[in-house]
Amino acid sequence: MSRNATRIGALRERIGDEILLEGWLYNRRSSGKLEFLLVRDGSGIVQCVAVKAELPEGVFARCATVTQESSVRVTGVVREDKRAPSGVEISLRDIEIVGASTDFPITPKEHGPSFLLDQRHLWIRSQRQAAVLKIRHTLVQACRDWLDADGFILADAPIFTPSACEGTTTLFETQYFDEKAYLTQSGQLYNEATAMAFGRSYCFGPTFRAEKSKTRRHLIEFWMVEPEVAFATLDDVMVLIERFVEGIVGRVLEKRREELKILERDVAPLERVRAPFPRVSYDDSARLLRGKGVPFEWGNDFGATDETVLTEGYDRPFFVHRFPAAVKAFYMKRDPGDDRLSLSCDLLAPEGYGEIVGGGEREDSLDRLVERIHEHKLPLDAFQWYLDLRRYGSVPHSGFGMGIERTLTWLCGIEHLRETIPFPRMLNRLRP
Ligand code: 4AD
Ligand code: MG
Repeated sequence: MSRNATRIGALRERIGDEILLEGWLYNRRSSGKLEFLLVRDGSGIVQCVAVKAELPEGVFARCATVTQESSVRVTGVVREDKRAPSGVEISLRDIEIVGASTDFPITPKEHGPSFLLDQRHLWIRSQRQAAVLKIRHTLVQACRDWLDADGFILADAPIFTPSACEGTTTLFETQYFDEKAYLTQSGQLYNEATAMAFGRSYCFGPTFRAEKSKTRRHLIEFWMVEPEVAFATLDDVMVLIERFVEGIVGRVLEKRREELKILERDVAPLERVRAPFPRVSYDDSARLLRGKGVPFEWGNDFGATDETVLTEGYDRPFFVHRFPAAVKAFYMKRDPGDDRLSLSCDLLAPEGYGEIVGGGEREDSLDRLVERIHEHKLPLDAFQWYLDLRRYGSVPHSGFGMGIERTLTWLCGIEHLRETIPFPRMLNRLRP
């Protein structure tokens, strides 16, 4: 934006003034003597009204020909309009077409998801998509602010890693000069090192999973915020998760009402997101599923449908804790009360959304951790640095990872997580 232009979001403070707007034509309606131009600039949409009788012929003619998504500079006077979402309307005085747009591929009519995903670089200009991405911006900021205020140090983990964190079936292998490397699945192992340096730390970045499944909940590249706390137990981390989730949801409700409204999100369920959250064991969840007639077998991980059924019993996020060790990663500490179980927890979002957070307590004994690495058939050498954390002042410690896109899908109340990231990477989709 040039220095002398006003953003649409700031027009309310300029009522009565002549201003310059810089943006793109969102839509246009005409009625012969009048042209109604909807202009967007990223901060909002405003209606500019051109009256034929009041304008030089050339100006009105330009208004009548400007096409969808042409970039424009509009000069006009700001008038109050209580019915408009922006609260104002512009009486157009002049218009300059900066860059014409011919046959913009996304029209107000319905398009299929595959077409829209091919046009993602243009689709993000639409009001709904922009609303989701603004909520994403606020969510990311809320995560950082909350953790920073709670004394966490941001210590980001590497993307290129020498070993697996979350199991070998979803690893992306890549060449790293003359050795093999893997794209990170989670920064957790590195967080465990930084937590031993800072007491509490977090990383926040992209993570990668070569997920062969095509679902509404899986991306190949997704963002995760991962806090880790020294001396914390499973119970401590569940308290951390619920305080954190309550805080960030509160922030989104406070800052993004307008965008949630654009998405027609019922905010009542989000307003109920108050700690403490219910806690239910894996055992009880398995029993509950069978009680509802779901043919669920003890020992399995929950599938998407199982999770959806589980969420029916709750009006707010809830924990499932103590999953069978066999379905969780090698680093999970076993439950001292039952060796088949791990000190793990997932947080499930209500309304059918399911898992948004995975976390738990880490194995802190050197010998047991070496045993697990063998059991999981992982290469011991690659984990020597990680084992050092148990050799030099090991402490009980716990942490979690929250998927940004899963969380946003729930907050926005949308069907599929592909709309929650600017450029989704999915099975069979690397473009644009
Ligand atoms: O449950 P996950 O696999 O846990 C971990 O990676 C732990 N190491 C985190 C930790 O304790 N530091 O993943 C954590 C969260 C999930 O709950 C989900 O929200 C998200 O990451 N997630 C995905 N989001 C989108 N697409 C995928 N393929 C995802 N896989 C996990
Ligand atoms: Mg998980």
